[in-house]
Amino acid sequence: MKTITKAELGVTGSTVRQYMHPGEQEVLLTLIKSVEPHTMVEIGVNVGLTARAVLENIPSIERYIGIDVHAAYQFEIPAQRIEHPGEPGQLVKDDPRFELRLRGAELPHAADVIFIDGDHGKRAVMADSVWAAAIINHGGLIIWHDYGNPTVEVTGVLNRLQAQGRNLTHVENTWLVFERR
Ligand SMILES: C[S@@+](CC[C@H](N)C(=O)[O-])C[C@H]1O[C@@H](n2cnc3c(N)ncnc32)[C@H](O)[C@@H]1O
Repeated sequence: MKTITKAELGVTGSTVRQYMHPGEQEVLLTLIKSVEPHTMVEIGVNVGLTARAVLENIPSIERYIGIDVHAAYQFEIPAQRIEHPGEPGQLVKDDPRFELRLRGAELPHAADVIFIDGDHGKRAVMADSVWAAAIINHGGLIIWHDYGNPTVEVTGVLNRLQAQGRNLTHVENTWLVFERR
């Protein structure tokens, strides 16, 4: 897999927050800004920390669809159960651009950016990655989190996609991987 450094992306800043290492949010926002997206989908919106950062910092966003799961969802990796939020999307629920969808509802049919950060089991990551490639708009961006996280199964899936011909880039010293389509 190709790699790129934060310096090459022009990233500065180092926000400290839950679910991301310091500086990863800045990488994510820089990547997202580069495509001036109108519609973004986040698989695994949780309480909305990333959604709030994107809605506050990316002025081109008109629609942000956050996807999460019902409380009874069976996680592929049982230890991930503790990540389930009491109220998915609670930090952004009053933003008119935000829409919450729980698994079982229809998935979006198009997006300029898709951030995959939901179930980190290998079957789920593969399914989300195949779906994302099928619906992403031309010129859009797919971003994954948790590449290199030894406690989950994202790394093997992304290496497999790369071996199958996908054009993925790892941002050095982060768990972020992206693909421009
Ligand atoms: C690590 S947290 C996500 C953090 C969030 N993306 C952020 O940047 O703040 C993982 C989230 O994925 C959700 N989740 C798990 N399986 C999912 C699935 N199949 N589809 C959508 N969301 C899922 C969990 O409930 C949890 O809220």
